[in-house]
Amino acid sequence: MRHQVVIIGSGPAGLLLGALLHRAGIDTLILERQSRDYVLGRIRAGVLEQGTVDLLHKAGVGARLEREGLVHEGFALNFAGQSLRIDLEDLTGGRTVTVYGQTEVTRDLMDHRDASGAPTVYGAQDVTLHAFDTASPRVSYTRDGVSHDIACDYIAGCDGFHGVSRASVPAAAIEIFERVYPFGWLGVLADVPPCSHELIYAGHDRGFALCSMRSLMRSRYYIQCSVDERLESWSDDRFWDELRRRLDPVAAAHVVTGPSIEKSIAPLRSFVAEPLRFGRLFLAGDAAHIVPPTGAKGLNLAASDVHYLSEALIEAYTEKSAAGLNAYSARALARIWKVERFSWSMTTLLHRFESSSPFERRMQDAEFAYLQASRVARQSMAENYVGLPF
Ligand code: APR
Ligand code: PHB
Repeated sequence: MRHQVVIIGSGPAGLLLGALLHRAGIDTLILERQSRDYVLGRIRAGVLEQGTVDLLHKAGVGARLEREGLVHEGFALNFAGQSLRIDLEDLTGGRTVTVYGQTEVTRDLMDHRDASGAPTVYGAQDVTLHAFDTASPRVSYTRDGVSHDIACDYIAGCDGFHGVSRASVPAAAIEIFERVYPFGWLGVLADVPPCSHELIYAGHDRGFALCSMRSLMRSRYYIQCSVDERLESWSDDRFWDELRRRLDPVAAAHVVTGPSIEKSIAPLRSFVAEPLRFGRLFLAGDAAHIVPPTGAKGLNLAASDVHYLSEALIEAYTEKSAAGLNAYSARALARIWKVERFSWSMTTLLHRFESSSPFERRMQDAEFAYLQASRVARQSMAENYVGLPF
């Protein structure tokens, strides 16, 4: 069997790359270890930059997003009992973000791929990359006990942080930059109306809290927790009580409680691998980098990688030019590091670090005071939040 591009992973990165390449007449095979339902069962962030929305439209999957996505013109920062609105639209000359769950993005991309007839193998086990440092790379896998071997021109490693692609690169060829934060986020999804029409990011002595939503009837809330917290020790009632303690009184009074339909703990990490290209293997999305969720950049960063990589592959096929492929790693990393900086700085501003000194606490206070006092400071935050240009 032969395909032009083998994409490993059917998360948003792999699916979006597949859609953009398909549209350009390039034939792709997606190999996914899990089942379709398993992939769709993962709950992740839900804020899309305009650039991500535009890319989804370009890929032909913007219709439901257009109908159901909620356009947000701003968000609130709560800090030590005070509230500050970041007016995205005013501060960025009219730009906004769209609230639409990553699960829905994934579903739309899967449906679109199925309709296009492009092949996806779910339940692909033992995916192994071969000879990607030569002109004839291959990918092998087994399914239902049968082995398969696929020849291709290029391999796209879109298989997330724990995938096989990055792990296949010799350690000496890759450099890793990492920060693991000493806390996690405990998240709850519930079918209750959101406590505010805009997102609220709250920095509090008891720890960070975030009020988000999936729709006008479904809320997503998070509170900072310790990394070794046990999910079983968080009843719904305990979660709602702790959330309300960390919000300003107005928001707290508007929290509508109800049974959780999902509850999970996620660790926080910043991570970048360099470079992103190894011969005919290209890494994109979480396979290449992780950001802490503060600022909701994970999916958006995967989308910008895919933008650069899809353009480079299309150029290679249609113009017989390797310029885009040669530039991919540097172009993508230049944007990745800026987004890493933003996610790290928002995390550092709003979380409680057990280890922080009185000096570091005053630095957090001073940064919030600067945001309150300076339009330029708010503008910088807004520019990053709506998304840096590709
Ligand atoms: N073989 C095949 N598929 C694999 C393998 C493997 N060895 N390892 C992992 N995968 C699959 C996973 O099951 C998953 O479906 O690769 C997919 C990777 O998808 P994501 O983890 O969603 O990563 P990505 O597409 O880069 O999306 C980035 O999604 O993970 C979030 O926080 C992240 O929001 C960000 C966005
Ligand atoms: C979410 O809705 O899940 C969400 C929103 C904003 C973030 C992180 C997560 O910064």
